[in-house]
Amino acid sequence: MAATVSPSRDYSSLLSLRGNNQGVSRTGDPRASANLISLIYGYPDAGSMPTTAVAEATTRVMETQGEWALQYGRTLGVLPMVDALIEKLARDNDITATRDEVMITAGGSQALALLLDLLVDRGDTIILEEPTWMGFIWMLKNVGGKAVSVPLDEQGMKLDILESKLKSLKAEGITPKFIYVIPNFQNPSGVSMPLDRRQRLIELANEYGTLIVEDDAYHDLRYSGETLPTIYSLDTTGSTFYTATLSKIMGAGMRIGWLVGPADLMAKLSVLKVDGSTNVFGSFVAAEWMRDNLAGHIEELKQVYASRRDAMLDALEANMPEGVSWTKPDGGFFVWVTVPEHLDLTALQPFAKERGVEYLAGSTCYVEGGKNTLRLSFSFATEDQIREGVRTLADIIAGELKESSL
Ligand SMILES: Cc1ncc(COP(=O)(O)O)c(C=O)c1O
Repeated sequence: MAATVSPSRDYSSLLSLRGNNQGVSRTGDPRASANLISLIYGYPDAGSMPTTAVAEATTRVMETQGEWALQYGRTLGVLPMVDALIEKLARDNDITATRDEVMITAGGSQALALLLDLLVDRGDTIILEEPTWMGFIWMLKNVGGKAVSVPLDEQGMKLDILESKLKSLKAEGITPKFIYVIPNFQNPSGVSMPLDRRQRLIELANEYGTLIVEDDAYHDLRYSGETLPTIYSLDTTGSTFYTATLSKIMGAGMRIGWLVGPADLMAKLSVLKVDGSTNVFGSFVAAEWMRDNLAGHIEELKQVYASRRDAMLDALEANMPEGVSWTKPDGGFFVWVTVPEHLDLTALQPFAKERGVEYLAGSTCYVEGGKNTLRLSFSFATEDQIREGVRTLADIIAGELKESSL
């Protein structure tokens, strides 16, 4: 008979500080969301997955390079993928990188987690935009880092506030390890940082002796406006790490992302990354698929997501009551909605779910606060679902506003 473990066993005295310090786990199950109008997560569109072309690429890889695709790989990433990435970085991001300046990672998530491993001890300070990507808040919590938040406006991180926070930290003898920014179509707010702010950010990082981590997960998904230079390409001082991912432009199931940075720091990271290389098989397939398919696929995705963004913005305009505002993103997956301060959108989440709609409570994207905000994703739901979902949310919010004014 198989042994069973007592459900009452208390493991806490055996757990590490990290193990005991648990928040929430990151990833939901996209299949569970498929039964709802799901405006909650940045899941890519299910109907746009390039299944046939990936199957063909897989067959070609197995026929021509199978013995290496099924083998362990180079720690910084297998060369076909690294070289495909170097080409993409030069073409799309104006980044010139050598093989020892890039690392292939299990999504952008692992790139950020590795950077935290490299740079942050318990109690160390880092600076982030607020609101910011919740996954990063959770990772920072895992390593016991301390977040200093800088608010955003329509043009990204407010640099006057950043400067005053850097100044007061310096007065306390604290140098933050890095400044975490998502300059394009920020998750969750959808806003983008213009060129002058990108340049000023580099100046400030240098003046205060810290680094910048540029998370560019949505770079390729721009639907309007001019492409802006990456912070990495503007920075001539070696102060920036750059990370992005195939999750939103090929498939999140590939679990392939990357990190670009100074070669001597990448060498140190490769010591911390003990895993026999990231997804060797998937890297071979991705490199094969990217060569003939990536550019065309991105164009198709842009059409799908641009229409969904427009459907969401139109629905918000048509249905939301007075006092509610939202951002108008030029790309990415998200619109950020703000309601009058006395409403608590975290508390309203279960009511929305009962009516078949899920959204992300904005408070998830704050270290503290944000109860009167929410994030809507337009990547996963169809245009009809988006229209219906926004109507339902508007109805709930209007009802709450009416009740609170009685
Ligand atoms: C801002 C941002 N950074 C990084 C990631 C990491 O994604 P992945 O690990 O799938 O590459 C995401 C995914 O949602 C994101 O929104």
